[in-house]
Amino acid sequence: MDTIKIREHFVQLYSQEPLVVKSPGRVNIIGEHTDYNNGFVLPGAINKAAYLAISLRDDEEIHLTAMDLNESFNVHIKDLKPVGDISWPNFILGVAAQFVKKGIALKGFNAVLMSDVPIGAGLSSSAAIECATCFGLNELLQTKLDRLTMVNMAQKAEHEFAGVMCGVMDQFASMMGQKNHVIKLDCMTMNYDYIPFNIDGFKILLLNTNVKHSLASSEYNTRRLECMKAVEWIKESNPTVNSLRDATVDMLKQNVLNKNALVYQRAEFIVEEISRLQQACEDLQKGDIDALGAKMYETHFGLSQKYQVSCKELDFLVNETLTNNSVIGSRMMGGGFGGCTINLVKETAIEELISTIKPRYEEAMSLPLSFNIVTIENGTEIIE
Ligand code: GLA
Repeated sequence: MDTIKIREHFVQLYSQEPLVVKSPGRVNIIGEHTDYNNGFVLPGAINKAAYLAISLRDDEEIHLTAMDLNESFNVHIKDLKPVGDISWPNFILGVAAQFVKKGIALKGFNAVLMSDVPIGAGLSSSAAIECATCFGLNELLQTKLDRLTMVNMAQKAEHEFAGVMCGVMDQFASMMGQKNHVIKLDCMTMNYDYIPFNIDGFKILLLNTNVKHSLASSEYNTRRLECMKAVEWIKESNPTVNSLRDATVDMLKQNVLNKNALVYQRAEFIVEEISRLQQACEDLQKGDIDALGAKMYETHFGLSQKYQVSCKELDFLVNETLTNNSVIGSRMMGGGFGGCTINLVKETAIEELISTIKPRYEEAMSLPLSFNIVTIENGTEIIE
């Protein structure tokens, strides 16, 4: 990404030198929909990022520009509220509102946004913008917030201004990423370990369905409620259970299955996924990439059949890899209903895989297939 362009654009607009913050998108190796169930996740920040050039103003106005979209949006600090017709200002304004909520004296600011995180691809393009904004404002207002506090503020921005009751994974990965490492995050305690992501001879290939079904955010919120319902029922006879992290399949069989088979199915996937992630981390640490890859497939089929957050486009892409020996793991990634599949593929076989799968997908789905080979990078940082 050419960061000179964003600086130049900013100076042209505001005749001021900005602070430029970079905050990446993320992949998640395994552990999907587990974050809001107090489980574990295994994400890493990637080499696709949002860039925010920002500086304070002397008044109480917020002036925003999205360079790639050629759109602008202005608002007074006193009128901070979610914007209805365009989405990107919400990720910035939602964070600004968190400063106000904390009782911090927010000042007016100018910001120019540029991003190469594909939108709607399940790579957390919105979390990247939220984290960049939070980091930038923290620097300029000299509020000395620590990174974890900023992760929580960015997550709340998504809840309150984008209306998605997301877990903490995306903002955490964007803010806390470390080059060549994935983060095993315990979303109950917020303890985390960096695990070296050694997959010699293999690469992470993202295949983008280029579709985002409109039910993505409403179904996401519904899944969250279904999981809460399961916990509520378990709690009736197991009062110490506070989330699906504390639950077992036996508990589900005894307390949920007789009440609602669909809620049981959702919760069963989560309990299995939390334990699958633990084993997958051991596989990764032992260097057993084949075992890790097999678990990614299990996750996909669980997400598709039990949790039902996949779609025909994602299923098509995963199924296409099943008979290809160069692909050791493949699954839908993120919230679901579109976006990307994450694939661990032998480096030397990537070109051939794409040339086979692309025409087949495009013919079957009447949609373009795009792809990215991603690397694991550092989290939010200032660009000098
Ligand atoms: C979205 C949310 C995350 C997480 C994933 C599913 O990316 O923002 O918090 O729940 O879906 O794992």
